[in-house]
Amino acid sequence: MNRVIIPLDVPSAEDAFTLVDRLGDEADFYKVGFELYTRGGPDVVRELVARGKRVFLDIKLHDIPNTVAGAVAAASDLGVDLLTLHASGGPRMLESAAAARSGDIRLLAVTVLTSLTPDEMSAVWGRDIRSVRDDVGRLALMAKDAGIDGVVASALEASWIRQQVGPDFLIVTPGIRPAGSDAGDQNRIATPGDAVRNGADYLVIGRPITQADDPVAALSSVLHEIDEAESEA
Ligand code: C5P
Repeated sequence: MNRVIIPLDVPSAEDAFTLVDRLGDEADFYKVGFELYTRGGPDVVRELVARGKRVFLDIKLHDIPNTVAGAVAAASDLGVDLLTLHASGGPRMLESAAAARSGDIRLLAVTVLTSLTPDEMSAVWGRDIRSVRDDVGRLALMAKDAGIDGVVASALEASWIRQQVGPDFLIVTPGIRPAGSDAGDQNRIATPGDAVRNGADYLVIGRPITQADDPVAALSSVLHEIDEAESEA
C-alpha cells in the first residue's frame, strides 16, 4: 500500500496536472482541497480518477444532516476515496453521512482544527479547555461510534488516538517532514518513519516533495523511509 497522499495545493487544474505528470507513477493518491476544488470543480477529481489516481477530497463538510448526506452521495458518485467532514457537526450529521456513503469512499472526521488555540476553543465551546487532546479523543470516539471511518490528526497524537479508537479506524496525518527538511509554517511535525511507527495509515506530505528540486527522488526517499519503519513492526 502506498500511504503517501500528495496535496495539490495549487491554484489551477493546469498547475495540478503539471505536478501529477511530474510525479508520474510514483504517486497515486492526491488531496484536492478548497482552493483547487473551487477553481477546478469536480472535473479535476474526474480527471484524476480517469488517470487511475486515488483522491482525498478535503472539503471539511459541516452542515445539517440532510445537506451533508447529499454531498457525501455526490462525492461517492465522483469516485472519491477519502472525504473530510467536521466531527463537531454532531452525531446525527455523522450518522447521515455514513448512511449516504456508497462504493469505496471512506469518511474522515476533523476533530479540532490544529490552528485553534485553547483560548479560541474556550470562546467557541463556552467552557475552559484544559486539554485539547482530551477533546480530540472524545470527538474521534464520537465519530467512530457514528460510523465514520477515520480521523485527520497530528502524527504526534496518532499513537494516543490509536489507543482510544482501536485498530479499525483510519488515521491520516499531515505535518510530516523528513529529517533535515524545512518545517515551513508547520509547528508540530514528525518524520514519515515516526508517523508510521505512531500508527498513521496515510501521510499527507506536500512541500517536502512538491517543492523539492527533484520531487520524484524526494518521494522515493520518503517511501523508502516508510518501508523501513513498516519492516520494524
Ligand atoms: O506542504 P505540507 O506538507 O505542509 O502540506 C500539508 C497539507 O495538509 C496541506 O494541504 C494542509 O492544508 C493540510 N493540513 C495540515 N494540517 C492540518 C490539516 C490539513 O497541514 N491540521
